[in-house]
Amino acid sequence: MTALLDVRGVSVSYGAVPALRGVDMEVGAGEVVAVVGANGAGKSTLLKTISGLLAPLSGQILLDGDDIAGTPAYDVVRRGLTLLPEGRELFREMSVLENLHLGFWPTRRPSSLRDERVEHVFALFPRLRERSSQHASTLSGGEAQMLGVARSLMSSPKLLVVDELSLGLAPKVVAQLFDILADVNAAGTSLLIVEQFVHLALEHSHRAYVLAKGSVVLSGPSAELASDPAIVSSYLGGASTEKAGAR
Ligand SMILES: Nc1ncnc2c1ncn2[C@@H]1O[C@H](COP(=O)(O)OP(=O)(O)OP(=O)(O)O)[C@@H](O)[C@H]1O
Ligand SMILES: [Mg+2]
Repeated sequence: MTALLDVRGVSVSYGAVPALRGVDMEVGAGEVVAVVGANGAGKSTLLKTISGLLAPLSGQILLDGDDIAGTPAYDVVRRGLTLLPEGRELFREMSVLENLHLGFWPTRRPSSLRDERVEHVFALFPRLRERSSQHASTLSGGEAQMLGVARSLMSSPKLLVVDELSLGLAPKVVAQLFDILADVNAAGTSLLIVEQFVHLALEHSHRAYVLAKGSVVLSGPSAELASDPAIVSSYLGGASTEKAGAR
């Protein structure tokens, strides 16, 4: 079986400083895969590289069998892979609806399809419909992350890549957002999630990879990793296993 996403031997440096060292990982069709690891392990670098925001020094990134390494991000979106970046990066002085339209733009599909897609994400997030004309800057943290997820779904991705969904949000809001991502997955979209809170990542994924200092040090079914306290304490640090509410 060909993986939807197949990352092979990917290395990335910032100037002379290596950030990823020969990373291998896969996401199968229909899977939810998590990447966990300490601050600075290279998680965001990996997601940015997969999404076309950074070009790797070496290695291959196969999406549906095509090597997309070094392909510009808008083209990667058109091919079916969309990133929700860490901190969501909304256009704060634009309305909720305008932010959604920007999520659709790279697909180059007709605007009639854009309006259908807006209806689809408003059905997932009714609160965004109520706030459709409001500036993104006026949204609460939870609403802003809803908009982040909704905007990334506007391109109808085959693979949605999410960096730190829980960042700065109350546990209840995080739980609601993960429930919606579970529905999105059940409807056929594969997910690659990066999460500081290891218990959240393992609870909401089928398989997981542990990154340390730019290398994959461990991988396996999430349930197996979650049930091994030695693994959590040696690779992930005690603090990362705390509940999101402790943040
Ligand atoms: N633009 C940059 N220029 C130089 N070094 C960078 C840059 N971005 C990240 N790095 C370095 O690369 C390494 C990996 O960073 P990255 O942001 O990928 O980690 P992370 O696992 O996402 O961390 P966090 O959990 O804090 O978000 C770190 O040592 C970081 O300092
Ligand atoms: Mg990061």
